[in-house]
Amino acid sequence: MFGGWLKRSPQTVSTSNNAKGDTSSYLIDLRDVVKTYQSAAGSFTALKNVDLQVNAGEFVAVIGKSGSGKSTLINMISGIDRPTSGEVIVANTPVHRLSEGQMAIWRGRNLGIIFQFFQLLPTLSVIENVMLPMDFCNMYTPRVRRERAMHLLEQVDMTENAYKLPSAISGGQQQRVAIARALANDPPIVIADEPTGNLDSRTASSVFRLFEGLIDEGKTILMVTHDNDLARRATRSVIVADGEIVNQYVAQALAKLNVDQLTRVSRQIETRTFAPGATIFHQGELADNFFIITRGEVEIVLHHPDGQEIIVDRLKSGQFFGEVGLVQNRTRTATVRATPETEVEVAILDQNEFHMLVNESELIRNEINQTIKERARPDVARM
Ligand SMILES: Nc1ncnc2c1ncn2[C@@H]1O[C@H](COP(=O)(O)OP(=O)(O)O)[C@@H](O)[C@H]1O
Ligand SMILES: [Mg+2]
Repeated sequence: MFGGWLKRSPQTVSTSNNAKGDTSSYLIDLRDVVKTYQSAAGSFTALKNVDLQVNAGEFVAVIGKSGSGKSTLINMISGIDRPTSGEVIVANTPVHRLSEGQMAIWRGRNLGIIFQFFQLLPTLSVIENVMLPMDFCNMYTPRVRRERAMHLLEQVDMTENAYKLPSAISGGQQQRVAIARALANDPPIVIADEPTGNLDSRTASSVFRLFEGLIDEGKTILMVTHDNDLARRATRSVIVADGEIVNQYVAQALAKLNVDQLTRVSRQIETRTFAPGATIFHQGELADNFFIITRGEVEIVLHHPDGQEIIVDRLKSGQFFGEVGLVQNRTRTATVRATPETEVEVAILDQNEFHMLVNESELIRNEINQTIKERARPDVARM
């Protein structure tokens, strides 16, 4: 859709202060990023040791409750805000080390940024708004800029409005113009903070289709959204809760929960690591916790009275166990232990929180019951 026209070569603008260790095999790489805001009321940590890696070509939806830190997170990537500590490496540039002057040029050439409230300059015409990033970064010859801007407006169906002021067109149209502007310098990465937050659902869906077209063109997109239906159309969701990214395997295991429930669960979770072969719980023990595997694999073992043991199943990251004991038996109907090869990391949820979730979410209840049914088959593990 946006392809084949005045593409620039994919290499990004390098900077002279690229020190050792500032490179990454990821297009976007946040390492142990902390952001603490200082205000009269005291200090507030909006991002807590966040790690996030994004590969070229991914379409990542960033979701989370209001105030969870989504904007702070993507402002670290765009360099709009700086981390208190940690590293932000985008397209092999250490964004956290750039000076203000370097930052503006780097951002203008490498990122397309789209906001909820469009932020077009009100005194410039639509086409002048789209030309602005090319003028600012001195990209393309002046004669080509207007032609290119018109071409971009064509891609978002806005050529008829090219010489109008932003105030003369609708919100959905302004957002289309903002997308054309974001693409002015053909950036490899597009960052959007609730780009559909101010649009009705039909307009939002058509704007979202433009983003999907960009992915087909090879762009990488990070998009904050409140809209779960839109988030599902991305290739991956990153969930932010209280300034932390929810473990992807916890999110996968509890995919039926909404963002509020997932935020609450992530506050309750305790992480534990077990050495290779270590037992997590024994058959016959009282059941008190629910487990989600976040790293490694476990094996489910049945002990027969004659002393024989049979391994009946293996579970991996993103799968849960311990639900049978909590829902049905009160005692564990099998032993669960780390496989002999690798250590296992589990997210542990207390039984009270587990029962609360099962009681309030029909989707989770159905899924748990379905899993229990499957695992109750005589040839499969019972826990
Ligand atoms: N400049 C600032 N000074 C102080 N606190 C801030 C500042 N910016 C954001 N915060 C706080 O950081 C938290 C995360 O904000 P934000 O990233 O905007 O959340 P979201 O985009 O998920 O709604 C909020 O509690 C917010 O009040
Ligand atoms: Mg925000």
